Amino acid sequence: MLSERIERLRPSPIRRILAVADRPGMVSFAGGLPATETLPSWSASVDPSVLQYGPSQGDAVLREAVSAQLTALGLDAPADRVMILSGSQQGIDLAAKLLIDAGTPTAVESPTYLAALQVFRLYGARLVGLDQVGGGGARLAYAIPTFANPTGRCASPAERDTLADACLRSGTVLFEDDPYRDLAYAPLPATPIATRMRGGSWIYQGSFSKTFAPGLRLGFLAASEDLFTPLVMLKESVDLHSSRLSQRIVLDAIESPGWPARLAGLVDFYRGRRDPFAAALDRHFAGLAEWETPPGGLFFWLRLTSPIDTRTLLDESLRRGVAFMPGEEFYPGEPEVGHLRLNFSHAAPADVDRGLATLADLLREQAA
Ligand SMILES: Cc1ncc(COP(=O)(O)O)c(C=O)c1O
Repeated sequence: MLSERIERLRPSPIRRILAVADRPGMVSFAGGLPATETLPSWSASVDPSVLQYGPSQGDAVLREAVSAQLTALGLDAPADRVMILSGSQQGIDLAAKLLIDAGTPTAVESPTYLAALQVFRLYGARLVGLDQVGGGGARLAYAIPTFANPTGRCASPAERDTLADACLRSGTVLFEDDPYRDLAYAPLPATPIATRMRGGSWIYQGSFSKTFAPGLRLGFLAASEDLFTPLVMLKESVDLHSSRLSQRIVLDAIESPGWPARLAGLVDFYRGRRDPFAAALDRHFAGLAEWETPPGGLFFWLRLTSPIDTRTLLDESLRRGVAFMPGEEFYPGEPEVGHLRLNFSHAAPADVDRGLATLADLLREQAA
């Protein structure tokens, strides 16, 4: 009775873990959750007009504010090619709906954002590597070049040039997902890849989840002219438009004089979580795993020295009160076993040491 694509629908391992991650006493390194302390408090009376239906593209003033920010990054993103999303997860769904049929070659990094893989698979994508792009082997190239999820990696300017050139040469649509750009713990030298896509087809998206409040469910995209109108039409059929109350709250925040200071404070706060986390990793994981300290974003990516499939550790780890994300879940094809993604932003510093010690003990037991 169900549609053909439902056969490809898989439960999200993230949601399964998050469902238990907030049990009392659990130390969670699992989700990409902002620290609760950083979430804004909000109280204001709103003009009832924001509770009326609004335009599908989003409210004009917010689109203009986002357009100004994107233009400052070098993107060709006038306000009439900016759309407000109900979370950037929605952008992934809309892009996939627009571009992916069953069997469409879709190029992704390996590993990459698990929830994007799930959407691409649902629409029937044939997942290939980003190295397939230049030869015309992909219709769509999805990349998170700036503080990637899960690896935390930031692509060099040369790597960005290479991907943009390959997309332009082969007529592949670049889909750049950039929710972590503002969480840079050192100066960020790299401009978005989409700034290099003049004359080509591209979608660039970002989010207010990591810098402001994920529960408002607000993100944004800009796209080349050929893609923008069909994306708006697809959004219209999904939810008419994103919450106007959320849009108003975000607009007030990003236009307030305190916004740059909020971003700077957030970066200091998360650097202040990352560094003791790195020290705790040194204490507990030396010899067990290798990692780099991420230059931005919210994750450490660990390569275990013995290739244990970390999916097999999850139930016992949850029983011992520690949630993490098995790295194997992030691979588009056969996983490289022996990886963990650890979020450093959410767990209270006092719990990090205990959580990492527990996880390291579990790994040592398995390796033995
Ligand atoms: C790479 C990437 N894209 C998109 C999202 C979705 O974010 P949201 O829908 O909250 O904007 C996330 C969330 O973790 C992410 O890591």
